[in-house]
Amino acid sequence: MNAESLARIYDGFAASYARNRDVFDLGEVLRAFSSGLPDSGDLCDLGCGAGEPVSAYFASRGWRVTGVDFSAGMLELADEFVPSMTSVLGDMRDVDFADESFDAVTAVYCLFHIPWRDHQAVFDRVSRWLRPGGQFLFTYATREYTGSDEFEGTKEFMGQSLFYSHTTPSRLAEQVAAAGLEVTSAVTRCIGGESFLWVTAYRPVSRA
Ligand SMILES: C[S@@+](CC[C@H](N)C(=O)[O-])C[C@H]1O[C@@H](n2cnc3c(N)ncnc32)[C@H](O)[C@@H]1O
Repeated sequence: MNAESLARIYDGFAASYARNRDVFDLGEVLRAFSSGLPDSGDLCDLGCGAGEPVSAYFASRGWRVTGVDFSAGMLELADEFVPSMTSVLGDMRDVDFADESFDAVTAVYCLFHIPWRDHQAVFDRVSRWLRPGGQFLFTYATREYTGSDEFEGTKEFMGQSLFYSHTTPSRLAEQVAAAGLEVTSAVTRCIGGESFLWVTAYRPVSRA
């Protein structure tokens, strides 16, 4: 499944996805992540979808939020739900920002739609975009979700067949380290009946 087809699927179910979004209560995850961040700053929310809940959470706390998504339908909703957000329509593998633009970057429930071999390029960019000490939160699919240590294929989500991909947690750790980021926590959480690995990493103030 190519990026264009996946973006069109998300366009198609943007409204119903947004209506069902509160099934996944991220309150605890977002409180824990933001406890390690300044009171305000610049956030980049990759795969921001309809802007709920991540972009909205940070925007309501005074953060300047840039949301990136390749679904125009999802971004239209995000513009409505989080009007202060700067939205960028594009594939997160192609968009670019100046070095050290953000205090935090999030990629919630979206990296698994990208072939895992492409994750390194995303992690490298995130590392460059983060200011020293900046934090990165992302969701990662594992055996708990797909039933395999490594997976590349389709799975059913909201009545549609969507592309998913992940490698093993240890190869993921190698990719994150190769990007110059240090993992601070990697916890499997079951939210809304779905188990994913929730990873927090940061850009060290001085790089080795
Ligand atoms: C499951 S939704 C999650 C949305 C939001 N982060 C949330 O927590 O509700 C996945 C989102 O990632 C976007 N997405 C998937 N792959 C992408 C890519 N390569 N570049 C940009 N957006 C992508 C989809 O369009 C969709 O809006």
